Amino acid sequence: MGYVGEIMLRVVDSILELIGKTPMLRLNRLAKSEGIQANVLLKLENLNPSGSYKDRFIRMVENAEKEGRLKPGYTIVESSSGNTAIALAMIGAVKGYKVKIFYPKDVWQMEKKKILERFGAEIIPVPLEETEIAKKYGVHGARVEIPGRIKCKELEESQPNVWWARQFSNPDNVAAHREMGYEILEQTNGKVDVFIASIGTGGNFLGVAQVLKDKIPNVKCIAVEPSQWPGWIDPLSKEAKFIPGITGGIIEEIRKSGLVDEIVYVSNDEAKDMAYKLSRMEGVFCGMSTGANVHVAINEAKKLKADQNVVTCAVDRGDRYLTDERFIT
Ligand SMILES: Cc1ncc(COP(=O)(O)O)c(C=O)c1O
Repeated sequence: MGYVGEIMLRVVDSILELIGKTPMLRLNRLAKSEGIQANVLLKLENLNPSGSYKDRFIRMVENAEKEGRLKPGYTIVESSSGNTAIALAMIGAVKGYKVKIFYPKDVWQMEKKKILERFGAEIIPVPLEETEIAKKYGVHGARVEIPGRIKCKELEESQPNVWWARQFSNPDNVAAHREMGYEILEQTNGKVDVFIASIGTGGNFLGVAQVLKDKIPNVKCIAVEPSQWPGWIDPLSKEAKFIPGITGGIIEEIRKSGLVDEIVYVSNDEAKDMAYKLSRMEGVFCGMSTGANVHVAINEAKKLKADQNVVTCAVDRGDRYLTDERFIT
């Protein structure tokens, strides 16, 4: 792809210009070791400036600016314990906004906290006891972030100059991932047989699947879910192991979208084993949800012929999970 080289050699005025347009890696060694003929293509979203595809939320921020919902001097707020928080902190740092992140207390991942601090974000821990309310309303697995969302709402209603990004309901989340969908079309010359995405907010799945289904009638779109989502348990207990970033209980809007051809469940060990294989065989240092994506991609590719393409994403970098892999992002 010519444009990738051009991008690498560009001189830019802001790191935000380097968001998106990520290269794609054909996983040759991994595929060969499994006797696979088809192409397993990994979109390297871990190469985004803050290390994940959530940097694409620049669209969310810029649309809010365009529509006057976010203005100079405002504070960006969000409830997030992971990549979204880091991406907003990075974007806020460059654009000069304060960023306030509500984070579920006691589920700190040391690396993520330090990254957020380095970008200058304010981090406000929300006690887990408040998740009673999440138990009551939680249909989606990202329940640990619900108390934080309540805090965001309170702040937005009680204080001026606050913009809540609302990744779970802001349509610009899906719109940001539609841009990735167009990039995938370009990189594959419009030939995608299977697309695979693990589900948190569903933004990646919905955005890319919308674009692909529109252009490629027979494309199969698979949503990945964790098979061992423990439901509601004490996140501090030893049993509380998660694939960070993907949470059990697919949200209803995704089911109803008509875009899901299949839901595939992946265990913690399957995700972790594949993430380790990606580092050791392909040099891709990624998180566990990428491992889950590629685990499914490999299984799908086994069913396909030589010229067929399976596409999925390297969601984020692995350095944020070095000391603790068990917590949700
Ligand atoms: C590590 C990781 N994997 C997967 C996902 C799922 O992405 P999405 O929210 O677009 O469904 C997220 C998002 O929260 C994430 O942080």
